[in-house]
Parts: sequence; C-alpha cells; structure tokens
Amino acid sequence: MTANRIVVMTGATSGIGANAAVRIVAQPNIRLIVGARGGHSGPDGAEVLPLDLVSLASVRTFADDVKKRLGGAHIDMLVLNAGVQTSDAKPRTVDGFEVTFAVNHLAHYLLARLLLPSMADGGRLVITTSDTHDPAVFSGAPKTLDPEALAHPDKNKGGVRFSAYPASKLCDLLTARSFAALANVQPPHITSIAFNPGLTLGTGLNRDAPRPVRFLMRVIIPLIGIFKPQFRSGTPERAGEVLAQLTLGEIDPPSGRVYASLVKGELTFPDPSTLAQSDEARDLLWRESAAMVGLS
Ligand SMILES: NC(=O)c1ccc[n+]([C@@H]2O[C@H](COP(=O)([O-])OP(=O)(O)OC[C@H]3O[C@@H](n4cnc5c(N)ncnc54)[C@H](OP(=O)(O)O)[C@@H]3O)[C@@H](O)[C@H]2O)c1
Repeated sequence: MTANRIVVMTGATSGIGANAAVRIVAQPNIRLIVGARGGHSGPDGAEVLPLDLVSLASVRTFADDVKKRLGGAHIDMLVLNAGVQTSDAKPRTVDGFEVTFAVNHLAHYLLARLLLPSMADGGRLVITTSDTHDPAVFSGAPKTLDPEALAHPDKNKGGVRFSAYPASKLCDLLTARSFAALANVQPPHITSIAFNPGLTLGTGLNRDAPRPVRFLMRVIIPLIGIFKPQFRSGTPERAGEVLAQLTLGEIDPPSGRVYASLVKGELTFPDPSTLAQSDEARDLLWRESAAMVGLS
C-alpha cells in the first residue's frame, strides 16, 4: 500500500518522542522516517536513517538521504523533537559550537531549512520547546538574546550552568515563529507549532547531568510535587500522545497561535515569554543562525 502521509522525525528513540512515534507509525497509510544516532532504532515500522545532531555535516547528509528516499514525494509532517540538557558550558561540537545550542537549536534550524523545499503545501512543522524558556516559569530563563554568546559561551566561566537549555528552547520557539511567518508569505504554506511538553520526569533528558541534578529530578522534585502543584510532572505517555496529535493534525492550534503548551496534562495555546514574542529577536536569531550554518 502506498503511504499517503510522510512524517520525518528526530528524537523518536526515547522518552516523549518514542511515545509519539509509536502512535504516529500505528496510523494507517503513514510512512515514518526517523533520524537517529549510533545504531538506535525507532519504533517497529519506521525507517531509520543515521543522524547525529552534534554534526552539521551529519544533518546535511541526513537531509540528502531523506530526499533520496522520498524520490520527489513531499514531507507532510516534520517533527524536530530531539534534545539534550547539559550543565557544562565547555563541551563543543565538531563544528565548534556549544553542545546544547548546537543540538537543540542550530542543527534543527539547518535541518528545517534544508527540508522546507521538500515539504507539502498544508504540511506541518512541530518543534519541541519548553516552558523553561519563560522567566515567568523558570528564573534562569533568558531575558535577552545573543546568539553568538550562546554559540560560543565563555569557556573560562566553569561551574554548573543551567542557562544553556532554556536559551536553546527560546531559540526553538523563535524558530517555529520564523517558519510560521515565512509560510504566511511564500509556499509551502505550512502550519508551524512550538510544543512544550511541560515538566516530564521519567525520560532520558537528565541522563548525562551531574549526580546531584539527577537526584534532584528523580527524588526531590517528585516529593516537592506532592505539596506544590507547579512541580507536578506529566508523563512521557501523555506528552507523546499530544505530540502525535499535534503532528497528525488531530489537534489544530487556533489561528495565528504557534505556542502549544502542555502543563500537567492539559494543553493550551498561551502567549510565550515576552522575548519569544519579539520579532526583532526572531529575525536576529534567523540571520545569525543562517550565517553559522553557511546559508543566506
Ligand atoms: N522531559 C522534560 O521534562 C521536557 C520538558 C520540556 C521539553 N522537553 C523536550 O522534549 C524533547 C524530548 O525530550 P525527552 O524528555 O523525551 O528526553 P529523552 O528521552 O532524552 O529524548 C531525547 C531524544 O533526543 C535524541 N537526541 C539527543 N541527542 C541527539 C543527537 N546528538 N543526535 C540525534 N538525536 C539526539 C535522543 O536520542 P538517543 O536515544 O540517541 O539518546 C532521544 O531520542 C526534548 O526536545 C526536550 O528538550 C522535555
């Protein structure tokens, strides 16, 4: 049977994305192409192609491989869900960028730019962001945007740093807004969504964090959540369900809304942070990201 909907996805091998991918691939007439690193496999029924987001060359190869596989067919849904949370500012990718910024934002920005011409009119782009981008939710969230400082933070500052992750998620949100703005003026006319799964314990996100951070996330936060609802976690199953529904068009954002936020199991379409709503910040990030990946 010929698939009549084609989905391309990152971050389908673990946590929220794995839960979403199982639901997506179970749909009739769907073809799911997953980008995954180091021998990881996606759900049964998915086609897995190598992709390591720490390398822009790998992103380019993956985009070429996807286009070859499609042979001129269009992508209906592009889901950019992969993510890492590191607390050390020192590690750099092979291209010389800070790892969290590079994986969560820059590699996905490049992938979306490379695959956009292959997307179907009426298609859908879903980028996973986080409400930690918002200073009203997380005190360590960014209040200003300097893409160059995020790409190459001061290596000498040292210590545990929690600011890279929320800043990268701000970049995801601004990027989703950029693609929404582009789709308003030129084809393909896609729907662009930035999805916040909300605090979701039980995924692999903190697997590389220092031991005290892992203890905090696995033991202390769930305990605090018993008494303080704002620290109550959602489940990877529920977040995956909503990610799949947004991807498949079973849930549509209200007209003009880009930010879809799942908090404690409930999905709303609120305003993101003031900085995430700034067109100046959005356009600055687009320009500087383009220069970093060698596009105009
Ligand atoms: N959990 C939360 O509380 C929470 C809250 C808000 C937003 N989010 C966002 O939700 C998304 C999914 O996170 P999760 O919590 O489900 O974490 P997870 O279980 O660690 O899943 C992360 C996914 O990203 C993939 N990935 C990481 N680095 C990669 C790389 N270099 N190349 C290719 N793929 C890579 C992982 O692949 P491997 O299997 O190879 O590791 C995995 O499939 C992320 O964007 C995260 O920022 C999570």
